[in-house]
Amino acid sequence: MTLRQNNKLRLAVLISGGGTNLQALIDRARDARLAAEIVVVASDRADALGLVRAQRAGIPVHVVDYRSCLQRDAAQLASQELPVDLRQLDRTQNILRQQDSKKRLLHLGRLVLAEKDLLAVLRPYRPDLVCLAGFMRLMTPYFLSQFNREQELRVLNIHPAMLPAFPGQHGYEDTFNYGCKWGGVTVHFVDEGEDTGPIIAQAGYPIWPGDDVETIRQRGLQLEYEVYAQCVNWLAAGQVHVARRASGRLYTVITDPLYRTIVSQWLQQSLT
Ligand code: GRF
Repeated sequence: MTLRQNNKLRLAVLISGGGTNLQALIDRARDARLAAEIVVVASDRADALGLVRAQRAGIPVHVVDYRSCLQRDAAQLASQELPVDLRQLDRTQNILRQQDSKKRLLHLGRLVLAEKDLLAVLRPYRPDLVCLAGFMRLMTPYFLSQFNREQELRVLNIHPAMLPAFPGQHGYEDTFNYGCKWGGVTVHFVDEGEDTGPIIAQAGYPIWPGDDVETIRQRGLQLEYEVYAQCVNWLAAGQVHVARRASGRLYTVITDPLYRTIVSQWLQQSLT
């Protein structure tokens, strides 16, 4: 993947909540530890604390009203200009599983409406990468197709578990409740499924006797901040190579000569 080699990337960051990952990116961009500039922050919630963090850093913010889009009924949806054929889109998506195809198409259509607004917000900022950082919405292939080209993927997510274990919204809770002795964090490209895209990097942390969900969340978050920023830097340096297995699945190879050192540092960090 060749994305503006050795240049600063333009990041759009999407959030729904507290935005500590966003803050970590802001801090690293400020002191040049991040080869990127955050050009816009968008949220699906007006009350997301992350918006305040962005404003404080002088970054333009926008709110996209997902809630009202997701409340449209079938008649309202039919009266809207949708930018895609929903049936065709449904064949390529893997995020919605309702058996009833009418219900599935309705949900898909509502998401597309919200994404149309989201794209209108993001487009003027010409982002190179879209970074989901606690953005609690599923992306449809319509949104992704505006950024991804074949093996050139441009939408990233940070997930609070060692994928493919524990996809979904409760990575720390699921890891803890399962009784895992190690947890992990994953940065991956977003594909047409939920938390199924090609993994860019992962880091693990031990779960000690006496830990609770909050302790492991704090341990994991400290790793999230490091791993997410590093993945952005690898992308900026053109060091994320996307390839395809014989099975058809995409995967990545990091070509940074310091890869092993960096992964070892994450391990050290998780043990101290
Ligand atoms: C993080 O744990 C991230 O992995 C998950 O949502 C959480 C967001 O936290 N996707 P914050 O808003 O960045 O503090």
